[in-house]
Amino acid sequence: MTEVLRISYKNSLPLPKPQKTLVSLAGLTRVFVWEMTVQEQQFELIIEGVLANGYAVCDDFLDKTEVQNLLKTFHTRYQAGKFKEAGIGKQSKVQTATQIRGDEILWLENESEDLAERVLLDKNQAFIDYLNQTCYLGIKDSEIHFAKYDIGKFYRRHRDTFQAQKGRILSVIYYLNLDWIPADGGNLLIYTTENNLEKTITISPLAGRLVCFESEKLDHEVTEAFAERFSVTGWLLNK
Ligand code: OGA
Ligand code: MN
Repeated sequence: MTEVLRISYKNSLPLPKPQKTLVSLAGLTRVFVWEMTVQEQQFELIIEGVLANGYAVCDDFLDKTEVQNLLKTFHTRYQAGKFKEAGIGKQSKVQTATQIRGDEILWLENESEDLAERVLLDKNQAFIDYLNQTCYLGIKDSEIHFAKYDIGKFYRRHRDTFQAQKGRILSVIYYLNLDWIPADGGNLLIYTTENNLEKTITISPLAGRLVCFESEKLDHEVTEAFAERFSVTGWLLNK
């Protein structure tokens, strides 16, 4: 991954508030007082997690109303037959490989005027802007799709940059599953290494939760879902 250069003006969350900065110039002193918005604090939490561990989990990134609105759009598009079985491999020769992944997907349009999609796309863009300003990541674009896993479906262990997927820097997943319980399965497993030992992180796809990780570095999988599973997957691209 591109080396992350970062202006670090804090090390831990939550921030002591408000922050004060004293600036003295030519005998005049000014006090700047600033506070981070909740969204900025969430961005910070995500970035700190990715820097420290390669991945981050942020709950309540979307609120319940935002999730419900997105689900409405999701279902409308699904019922209109817009979703396709997901493939593996390059865009040009997408092959369906249900033994590897069983989700159905629909790519979002960056220019969408659907209000629920707009909220998500704008938040995603705000995150990109924040990353570019504070980490100099040079993210130029993103690609985002809805994903639906029917009961019995899964996505075997993989990496998001397989077969030279171009420019994927960060993977971002937004979950839309209200009332999800452990028996519903469908966990995201992320494989990391700690002291040369593989460690598996288990993350359930709870509504409002965002997961972010370095696309190039981490293997991950979706375990079999025992209830219909709804999510949005995005990649932030440096191309
Ligand atoms: C993917 C993916 C994980 C998830 O779409 O590439 O790994 O939890 N999704 O939905
Ligand atoms: Mn993936």
